[in-house]
Amino acid sequence: YSTAQAATFVQTTVQSDDESNIDIDWENLGFNLMPTDYMYLTKSCEDGRFKQGQVNPYGNIQLSPSAGVLNYGQGIFEGTKAYRRNDGGLFLFRPHENAMRMQIGAERMCMPCPSIDQFVDAVKQTALANKRFIPPPGKGSLYIRPLLIGSGPILGLAPAPEYTFLVYASPVGNYFKEGTAPLNLYVEEDFHRASRGGAGGVKSITNYAPVIRAMKSAKARGFSDVLYLDSINKRYIEEVSSCNIFLVKGKILSTPAASGTILEGVTRKSIMDIAHDLGYQVEERLIEVEELNNADEVFCTGTAVGIAPVGSITYKGKRYQNFIY
Ligand code: COI
Repeated sequence: YSTAQAATFVQTTVQSDDESNIDIDWENLGFNLMPTDYMYLTKSCEDGRFKQGQVNPYGNIQLSPSAGVLNYGQGIFEGTKAYRRNDGGLFLFRPHENAMRMQIGAERMCMPCPSIDQFVDAVKQTALANKRFIPPPGKGSLYIRPLLIGSGPILGLAPAPEYTFLVYASPVGNYFKEGTAPLNLYVEEDFHRASRGGAGGVKSITNYAPVIRAMKSAKARGFSDVLYLDSINKRYIEEVSSCNIFLVKGKILSTPAASGTILEGVTRKSIMDIAHDLGYQVEERLIEVEELNNADEVFCTGTAVGIAPVGSITYKGKRYQNFIY
């Protein structure tokens, strides 16, 4: 896969002191917050535009107890990654895609949004300011988290009067404790991630806390994560708590259609593009949970997750397995 297609070039050389005074066990990163040196921060003006931001030392932010995000969940976020190349250069994974998705999410949540250029610049500044935390090639990446929140105080239900856009980062390795081993998914029948007409198609912070209960319960029973079904028919697969899902059957690659309840992942899009280039027929459609039984291969995609093979899926007490991985 062409790296030119996948990534935006940031810088060809890294300062020689880049690796100095950093004591990180790159072999055992996992997906845990490791505070870095800097974060980017800016606030909205009255006209809804965002001031020129800058990187500041990483640290806590002050919020009014009545901030829109704290009371009414007016907030969206993104996730992208910076990688180190063998020749020392750094790459960002398609930050323009995240910038565009944040615009769509902001519109859905009645928030002003930084421009595409401002977003990408903020991500680049954050990556470069924290470059000593970007793992060596093959050891992981710097996960970059852009966050847009209603930070102004509001009592009645309405858009917040002021917004904060910030970007922080953490070096990460594998998202799942399974590492690169295949995941064992549990199909949840009682809880749904999103409903038609809701905000499941955008990266609202409100989409995530509600899935923790089902996820925690599945993990306590030994599963890796939960696969959610559509909330109306309860028969079509939608997505996993933190990632999209794909099925391969012969030369057909299928993934649930993004019709408002599924997040249109940046990695999901990349996989569809690559598969198409490789001669696969790519289908975005309704996928019945029983179809999993006939799949040759099942895998999950997401920025945090990357690409994770699925080894088994348990639905109504039946374990679908024998997938190739
Ligand atoms: C990402 O993949 O970047 C996400 O935002 C998912 C999150 C639950 C870690």
